Amino acid sequence: MVPSGGRGNGSGRIGTVGVVGLGTMGAGIVEVFAKAGLSVVGVDGTPELAERGKGFLTTSTGKAVARGRLSEQDQKALLDRVTWTASVTDLADVDLVIEAIPERLEFKIDLFSKLDDIVRPDTILASNTSSLSLTTIAAATKHPERVIGMHFFNPAPVLALVEVISTLFTDTKLVREVRDLATRLGKKPVVVGDRAGFVANALLITYLARAIRLYETGSVSREDLDNAMRVGAGFPMGPLTLSDLIGLDVVKEVCDVLYEATKDPSAAPPALLQQMVTAGRLGRKTGQGFYDYGPDADESEQ
Ligand code: 3HC
Repeated sequence: MVPSGGRGNGSGRIGTVGVVGLGTMGAGIVEVFAKAGLSVVGVDGTPELAERGKGFLTTSTGKAVARGRLSEQDQKALLDRVTWTASVTDLADVDLVIEAIPERLEFKIDLFSKLDDIVRPDTILASNTSSLSLTTIAAATKHPERVIGMHFFNPAPVLALVEVISTLFTDTKLVREVRDLATRLGKKPVVVGDRAGFVANALLITYLARAIRLYETGSVSREDLDNAMRVGAGFPMGPLTLSDLIGLDVVKEVCDVLYEATKDPSAAPPALLQQMVTAGRLGRKTGQGFYDYGPDADESEQ
């Protein structure tokens, strides 16, 4: 059982949320919660990184204002619901923490064991991990029954799916509570067990790896490969464009975890993907991946 802090049951008790790690996913998750009217504490490792997270949210909500989807007044109210900090100790009184730091198991274990000592006993500890073992993360805490996966999809403010991942430790009431919370955020939750890549990434990332391997053969241009799946199969983006959106480092990390767990050769990171990550060509976030995204890039490339 999750220890009761006397704040009632159900997702309605969740009013304040901490998000740790303010990269693309973390900043998007901050936006989702703040848009739904919850108070958010955004945390990253340094004041500069916290400020960068604030910049992501200001830019993203600014685009919504420019497109007429959000009034300036609502943007201000949304931004006012978020505080930014470089200190995890500022999470002492939140109801839920979502971790969205880089995909390194040792970093996550370290953070969760720190959070264990900082947050209230009834605070839910959630991870946005793409594929790492939630059971291992939970087992490193004093209260593994309050650890759960809440896996958002990029771009988090747009895509409705949230995988709610439970482990053998997870309290079943907590699974219900987190599923209800996702619905309250306007998302579509699916409940999945703790296996490498869960459901969506186990299928999607293997497909992306296959597409990169096909591109490596030189038998098709990047545009024709992407169009084959976009136009021919009705996907919103071709696999190379999608890999650039997700981040090639993230695609490679998930490939590594899937391959390690399954030894399925189609999940192994393709040589080209590994080289691009080593070269720092990580996709949109670095301005270069399979396509170019710099200020001089041809519009047709993006
Ligand atoms: N943040 C906020 N809003 C965004 C956004 C972002 N990063 N990117 C796009 N949007 C909004 C736009 O503002 C626009 O809103 P509007 O219609 O209300 O004006 C809407 O989304 C559509 O955007 P666009 O018109 O620019 O472009 P598209 O119609 O092509 O949609 C897309 C863009 C939503 C990214 C769509 O192409 C898509 O769904 N692509 C597939 C993405 C996908 O599969 N993601 C999953 C990746 S796997 C993952 O994340 C798991 C991880 O663990 C690896």
